[in-house]
Amino acid sequence: MTGSIRFILNGELREVSDLPPSTTLLQYLREQAHLTGTKEGCAEGDCGACTVAVGRLKDGKVDYQSINACIAFLPTLDGREVVTVEHLKSKTGKLTPVQDAMVKCHGSQCGFCTPGFVMALSTLMHNTKNANDEDIQDAIAGNLCRCTGYRPILDAARMANKDKDRALPSDAKALKNIQRTKMFAYEAGGAKYFSPVTVAEFADIYAQYPDATILAGGTDVGLWVTKFHMELPVIIYTGNVEELRQIKETPDGLDIGGAVSYTEGFSALAAYDASIENLLKRFASVHIRNAGTIGGNIANGSPIGDGPPPLIVLKTKLVLRSKAGARTLNLEDFFLAYKKQDRKPGEFVEKVIVPKKPAGVQFRVYKISKRFDQDISAVCAAFALDINGGKVTEARIAYGGMAGTPKRATNAEVALNGQSWNEATLQKAMTALDKDYTPMTDMRASAQYRADVARNLLKRFYIETTEPDVETQVYRYAE
Ligand SMILES: Cc1cc2nc3c(=O)[nH]c(=O)nc-3n(C[C@H](O)[C@H](O)[C@H](O)COP(=O)(O)OP(=O)(O)OC[C@H]3O[C@@H](n4cnc5c(N)ncnc54)[C@H](O)[C@@H]3O)c2cc1C
Ligand code: FES
Ligand code: FES
Repeated sequence: MTGSIRFILNGELREVSDLPPSTTLLQYLREQAHLTGTKEGCAEGDCGACTVAVGRLKDGKVDYQSINACIAFLPTLDGREVVTVEHLKSKTGKLTPVQDAMVKCHGSQCGFCTPGFVMALSTLMHNTKNANDEDIQDAIAGNLCRCTGYRPILDAARMANKDKDRALPSDAKALKNIQRTKMFAYEAGGAKYFSPVTVAEFADIYAQYPDATILAGGTDVGLWVTKFHMELPVIIYTGNVEELRQIKETPDGLDIGGAVSYTEGFSALAAYDASIENLLKRFASVHIRNAGTIGGNIANGSPIGDGPPPLIVLKTKLVLRSKAGARTLNLEDFFLAYKKQDRKPGEFVEKVIVPKKPAGVQFRVYKISKRFDQDISAVCAAFALDINGGKVTEARIAYGGMAGTPKRATNAEVALNGQSWNEATLQKAMTALDKDYTPMTDMRASAQYRADVARNLLKRFYIETTEPDVETQVYRYAE
């Protein structure tokens, strides 16, 4: 095997050929490049101390997104540009507006979290001409500060937002020179890494190494290494396979590739209903959403993943591909039991097919977690009811966090089908939910809480669809 990892770091080409593939970008920055402005707090994507901007070519320009360097494996940066806090400067060569405002608004005390906040805000300012308060809060929801408090940081963001000097340094030409047209193969420290660029290449190499770890956004896999110290002898990366990164609108709905990020995939789905957009804001943090993928969220089979419940009630099909060809199944049938999925050796998630939502279908998704931002669901509920002339002709309900897999509420659905959509039917369906699930108690919620919340979310759905003027939304901050 050959090859060195090539990427642009703060305007300079870097080539790495001797570090194991599961070396994180953060380890490289601090230990090899001696760029210690990027900090390590949690090493699991939760605190944002390691936030950097990563650029990749999109339509000839560099598209920057903030990510957590602590869980990004170095080879995934091949063909990308990395900007760290050391590289920021204003047009006059002085502090950037974000850095300057952090000083003027006293947005930093011990300073440990500050580079992460500065990078999160600088990426926001680069991408958004005039960020509003909601945008600002969203951009830094994945960044923790233990001593300053958030108000001065918000003040700093608002002040910087008024400045026009907001572009990150960019070098599209240098990036073009390091793009690959064929699979990148890398080996170091006894471990192998493959980054195919076509689906056919992916299927071939996975057939050759059926025990390999598929790596997508690494928001799970990264933690296997940083927290569980797992060895990953062979890794196959989805992030450079163009077909897996596409979202296609078809006459029947949307085809979303397995390596499409949460940010992009769920933004496309937001047209189905505003509650999807609300769910997206509640999904982890912007940095995790930029990395984590639809395929990864499904393939990991987590019972508390936020993607499956809404996709299941929207009748999503899952396309699995291997060297032998592709097969299509209903998404709900993929989840067999706790952490057991219907995936044969050599198969990977190629795409999901989300049908158009027919007119007349009432759809909502709700997430319940202890915090608004950056928290895993205790319960995630999705409802799609086809209501004609006041009667439910088809009910589809799915919950996450209530069983060992994301699961349909078949008893509640039976209680609704063919019935008038009224209070009496609602009560029957709420009672039927008790037969559908035996939730467990864990650190996120007790079994009783989960059961109560599941019933009450169905009630909330009923209220929202029958009394549209009643305000039921949950906001990040009370004004
Ligand atoms: C701080 C933090 C917050 C989080 N918050 C949330 C949250 O709010 N809601 C939520 O649902 N999840 C959350 N997660 C979990 C995680 O982000 C998701 O499960 C994520 O979508 C996983 O996708 P990924 O692309 O990062 O997958 P990876 O970590 O790369 O992979 C996950 C698994 O899927 C497999 N895989 C990936 N792609 C494919 C493919 N195309 N075909 C076959 N197998 C594949 C991998 O081999 C691995 O087993 C959070 C994680 C972190 C670290
Ligand atoms: S070190 Fe905490 S998110 Fe990376
Ligand atoms: S300034 Fe100390 S953690 Fe934020």
